[in-house]
Amino acid sequence: MNATINLENKHFPVLLNELISIISPLYGGTFIDCTFGQGGYSEKILENKKNDIIALDRDKDVLRRTSILQKKYNKRFRFYNLKFSQLDQIKLKNHKIKGIIFDLGYSLNQIKNSQKGLSFHDKGKLNMKMGINNFSANDIISHMDENNLAKVFKVLGDEKYSKKIAREIVKKRKDKIIKTEDLVKIIDNVKKYQKTKIHNSTKVFQALRILVNEEISELINGLVNSFNLIPVGSIIAVVTFHSIEDKIVKFFFKHYSEQRNSSRYLPDNEVSEKCFKLINKKPIFPSANEIKQNPPSRSAKLRYGIKTNDNCDFNEFRQKFKNLTDVENLR
Ligand SMILES: C[S@@+](CC[C@H](N)C(=O)[O-])C[C@H]1O[C@@H](n2cnc3c(N)ncnc32)[C@H](O)[C@@H]1O
Repeated sequence: MNATINLENKHFPVLLNELISIISPLYGGTFIDCTFGQGGYSEKILENKKNDIIALDRDKDVLRRTSILQKKYNKRFRFYNLKFSQLDQIKLKNHKIKGIIFDLGYSLNQIKNSQKGLSFHDKGKLNMKMGINNFSANDIISHMDENNLAKVFKVLGDEKYSKKIAREIVKKRKDKIIKTEDLVKIIDNVKKYQKTKIHNSTKVFQALRILVNEEISELINGLVNSFNLIPVGSIIAVVTFHSIEDKIVKFFFKHYSEQRNSSRYLPDNEVSEKCFKLINKKPIFPSANEIKQNPPSRSAKLRYGIKTNDNCDFNEFRQKFKNLTDVENLR
């Protein structure tokens, strides 16, 4: 689900107060906003004159908004049209990074832009590209073989009818190019007797969006690159919106905040050092008030960790989610 949609179509940065109260003890330095979007987090942090922001977003459409911040905050604000997996490409000059923040998913502007085709309410050619992509949802639906399509729907969308939906797609695409509205119809036909609380197309669309934007490898590489960029004492904070994202972020912080020993036969001095200190073991959720004001925020979870050690090896982290990245690599 998305961070910033609400019924009145107003932009509400999710968990903003909670995020600010977590990072403000570190104020007086440079923060990296990896998911600039409409700039809600960046602008709030810049309100404090002691702070600088380096912001990233894969979507060029945010440039209108970044130019406003550029004018207002001058040198204190710098923007890169990059994916956060490319964090290692940014020039830090003399900046010592105090914190890196992620607000995953897509923005209100993106979901409202029917050309991006992120919503199952859109009509026309399948797309789902957020920016800097190698392929679109149309490429997947038109060319991926049936088994792989089913795998994508199952693993990235937890779709119970993955095989049937994949079979129908392959049958239908022989006659015509499948557009967004056709895909919704195919899914509705497969699930016709099912009555669930969520829209029939939610899971397949989630799976396609994750695949098209390679969201799993983005997140894993983004987190590891963030860790490598910040000094000990700095913070990484992440807002997630669905269970796959949260599982990855939870493992990253929890596993690496404990002492780990890859083998019980190893002597104690071979136990790895902790990489993070966790102040909150549990995630932080939006308040009832925020959910009332902005209902889609109900699926948001904020997790964060303070870096405690420079020498961390994230191989185990990558291995843990290899089943997901393998599916992203199917095409
Ligand atoms: C939920 S919005 C962020 C909203 C923002 N916190 C605000 O207050 O306006 C997510 C943004 O992250 C961007 N994004 C998603 N995945 C990304 C990635 N891998 N690299 C860079 N930007 C990404 C999207 O393009 C979108 O603009």
